[in-house]
Amino acid sequence: MHLTRVARWSVRAACLAAVMLVSACNDSTTPKPPEPGQPPQPKTSMVPSLVTSAMAADAPAAASATAAATTPATTPAAPSELIARGKYLTRAADCAACHTSADGAPFAGGVPLKSPFGTFYGTNITPDKTNGIGGWTAEEFYRALHDGVAPDKALYPAMPYTSYRQMTRADSDAIYAYLMSVKPAAVPNRKHDLSFPYNVRMAMRAWDWMFLKDTLPDAAKGQSADWLRGRYLANALGHCAECHTPRGTFGQLDKAKPLGGAALARIAAPDLTPEALAARGWTVKDLQTFFGTGIAPQGSAFGEMYPVVHLSTQYLTPDDLRSLSTYLLGDAPPAPKPLPESPDTSKLMAGRNMYLAVCAGCHAADGTGKPHVAVSMLGNSTVRQKDPRNLIVTILDGVEAQKFPGLEAMQDMPGFDKRLTDAQISELTNYLRVAYGGQAGDVNSEIVKQLRQK
Ligand code: HEC
Ligand code: HEC
Ligand code: HEC
Repeated sequence: MHLTRVARWSVRAACLAAVMLVSACNDSTTPKPPEPGQPPQPKTSMVPSLVTSAMAADAPAAASATAAATTPATTPAAPSELIARGKYLTRAADCAACHTSADGAPFAGGVPLKSPFGTFYGTNITPDKTNGIGGWTAEEFYRALHDGVAPDKALYPAMPYTSYRQMTRADSDAIYAYLMSVKPAAVPNRKHDLSFPYNVRMAMRAWDWMFLKDTLPDAAKGQSADWLRGRYLANALGHCAECHTPRGTFGQLDKAKPLGGAALARIAAPDLTPEALAARGWTVKDLQTFFGTGIAPQGSAFGEMYPVVHLSTQYLTPDDLRSLSTYLLGDAPPAPKPLPESPDTSKLMAGRNMYLAVCAGCHAADGTGKPHVAVSMLGNSTVRQKDPRNLIVTILDGVEAQKFPGLEAMQDMPGFDKRLTDAQISELTNYLRVAYGGQAGDVNSEIVKQLRQK
């Protein structure tokens, strides 16, 4: 999971570099001293120009913060109810993904988020006064989620406030109440290990000013209560767009292609628009099963999607699972596309033999999978993707052993990068695409070669 975050950040690296340049070029003459009230700045000559762009950035951010603060709070809940609701929302927003490390106390931070320009570490968000956020008010906490600003610094968008910005004040307060109820952990924050110029925090305000928006665009249409709730679950809490929406030149979410899929990691986050989901056979019911259990007739959650299910969506109520799925497919979901009846694989015998020799032991000779061993290849959404990338990468890298909610667990799938040549993998891929995926057998060995781990 951490490895794949690397690629996601590479785009942001480019963005940051560009933002720095823009700021530097716009104001390359006399450096102005920071205005009073600005946090102390790191000692670099580039800083003053960045502070200037941050000043401009403050205006719109402050205005929208005021607007949001006037949203009426819901009826006050008893503390224990509030904390329970906060726990549910904390899971729905998957705060643990970045703030709870594999071997650390809950929310004590330390999760490494690697990037080409250094490593970020999720911070300690327990109520510890020295190391965590024990000294923060609910207002300051809301500003971190909504504006990406901590009392003493601007946050990096490694913290997905681009999405959390849409969270209601009431939900932010519930999450705050829950986090204040967890055990304080005296774990100091690890310093992010970033190189210049990415270690200059104020550049973030320039990025925010250009790209931090109040709403995210939708891929599907709807207006039912379910759809609206699903929109909130997906955009404000689940931050699905952070992975599934492609990014533009500056690392910003591309507004023209909401949930259009993004190949920023080794396993790409697929296109989740209604047409693309239906073309891979998804229905509202099957999506519910996928988010609730990690396994559906269309396959299992793996790569960066596995922790999303494991830490977050599996805890959603049945109503919320249905809403999330309804949001994706829309109030009038397109019909799932059937697979071709009898695909012609007569020219793909080499690929078929390869499948029988190395894959069928787990995925079955007819491609329908084996219970508790491996998922079906027939109609598998990874095989049905037009872009062969995830299929090829899975064959090269394999899949780690994963536990699914309930009793289901599967062993690992070995990687075949050492055992099969580029030509063999392209033949195999073409057979799977045609026989089980309704796709063209148009993969050549050059594509495989490019996807091999360097
Ligand atoms: C994708 C990873 C990711 C997720 C998900 C995430 N965070 Fe963060 N968060 C970070 C990183 C990285 C930082 C440090 C950013 C920085 O130093 O600028 C951070 C910083 C923070 C801070 C500021 C802490 C400080 O000491 O300055 C708070 C508060 C916070 N996160 C709360 C949350 C909450 C609440 C959630 C869930 C609603 C959440 N985060 C989800 C990555 C994440
Ligand atoms: C030892 C058993 C085993 C073998 C051999 C095996 N797989 Fe898998 N495969 C699995 C398991 C288990 C999963 C699901 C892993 C998970 O999500 O936890 C999987 C997942 C996949 C996936 C991802 C789709 C999804 O929905 O999870 C693809 C694609 C795939 N296998 C293709 C192949 C191909 C092609 C071969 C032959 C080169 C192969 N597998 C060989 C066990 C195996
Ligand atoms: C950290 C990155 C990340 C986040 C956040 C994320 N996803 Fe994913 N998602 C992926 C990746 C990578 C895959 C491809 C692997 C797979 O199919 O399991 C995927 C796969 C999926 C699939 C299966 C698509 C198919 O046809 O196989 C669905 C549906 C999905 N995500 C929905 C969501 C929703 C809804 C959210 C928000 C609640 C979300 N994802 C959040 C990375 C992410």
